[in-house]
Amino acid sequence: MHASSPAAPCPSPLLAWPAEGYTRAPYRIYVDPDVYAREQEAIFRGSSWHYLGLEAEIPDPGCYKTTYIGDLPVLVTRAEDGSVHAMLNRCSHRGNLVAREPFGKAKRLYCVYHAWSFNLRGELTAAAFRHGLRGEGGLPDDFDLADHGLRRLRTTTFLGLVFATFDNSLEPLEDWLGEVADGMRRVLRKPLKVLGYDTQRIHANWKMYHENPRDSYHANILHTFYATFGLSRQSQESGMILDGHGRHVYFYTKANTETASSDFDQATTGLRSVNSAFKLEDPGLLAWRDEHGDGVSVQILTAYPTFVLHQIANSLATRQLVPRGPGQADLVWTYFGYADDDDEMTRLRLAQINLVGSAGMVSVEDAAVCEMIAKAIGDGRLGASFIEMGGRDLQGASATKLSERAIRNFWNIYRQDMGL
Ligand code: FES
Ligand SMILES: [Fe+2]
Repeated sequence: MHASSPAAPCPSPLLAWPAEGYTRAPYRIYVDPDVYAREQEAIFRGSSWHYLGLEAEIPDPGCYKTTYIGDLPVLVTRAEDGSVHAMLNRCSHRGNLVAREPFGKAKRLYCVYHAWSFNLRGELTAAAFRHGLRGEGGLPDDFDLADHGLRRLRTTTFLGLVFATFDNSLEPLEDWLGEVADGMRRVLRKPLKVLGYDTQRIHANWKMYHENPRDSYHANILHTFYATFGLSRQSQESGMILDGHGRHVYFYTKANTETASSDFDQATTGLRSVNSAFKLEDPGLLAWRDEHGDGVSVQILTAYPTFVLHQIANSLATRQLVPRGPGQADLVWTYFGYADDDDEMTRLRLAQINLVGSAGMVSVEDAAVCEMIAKAIGDGRLGASFIEMGGRDLQGASATKLSERAIRNFWNIYRQDMGL
């Protein structure tokens, strides 16, 4: 036997960040299971609001949907009085999933394992055999239903979107979104109608996809469809709006606002995305209506950490990013229109949904690039990405889309949240 145990080694830091700071992201950040585990606590159960769905998905009292915040299953309900609630989809008895379907409608929430049941606010209303049988069994006399509800999350709605957080002291959602809330107000200006869903499994870390819609620099280079057919080009009037902390961002582009410049012609010579030999068999696909009256053909909005709202021509959708371990993520696309759309408008939106989603003519390339990056970085032990387009700071190049400013801001916030 040892007389005394050796001193415990100092805990090693999760990883060493490159000295350049937020202009680099070490590739290990996308691969390491310990990083993933800390993200669950520091980001998903930390001080962020998380998008859970549209109010239009749970239109009536009793409607519910199931989703996730990080790895944890979440249940979103509409109670009898019309209020919206979110709670862990985990029985407060011994942890079973309470709701198993993606959507449902019920008067109460019922756990199949031992028949504890909950109201639509997550309060425990009955526990089977609570008083035992023939004087045997039963829960202790001091058992109080009120102490054993589902774990409720602080929940809020904004413009028909439902968000929740584990942090009861976090600022209200609208304040947290700051200036980026304006991009939501522009698109979510009247009641919504869900048109459909598409969920894709991306074989890459969730942060690779999170960076993608924050990255205005790639849009007109990677996406042949955008540049070739003029929905979004570098030469068009565009802008980038971040909130004061740099957590959230949206970009917009106005079609038909090209300004000729000789350096543009020079810079785009050789871009594979500009291909005048391509023609659409059905140009009607791009016969979009300027329904917001401001000429904006594309607006992509990203709220930290896992929410995207897009308007691409008349296609409207939310995207929710659900991490599935360090090497995979699900991207849930919810396509919508307005409740007062006529049939023709709905047909136009449905046709333009072909631009987006897992096989979309624009967006198919985004997941493909994430998966190629995942292949290229291997175990992540070697190297870091280089994020200096538009400068090395958090503020610069705000008027141009040729900038990785929003990505630098992401890593800045991420490092603060993760203590890295
Ligand atoms: S785990 Fe739900 S009732 Fe037992
Ligand atoms: Fe893209």
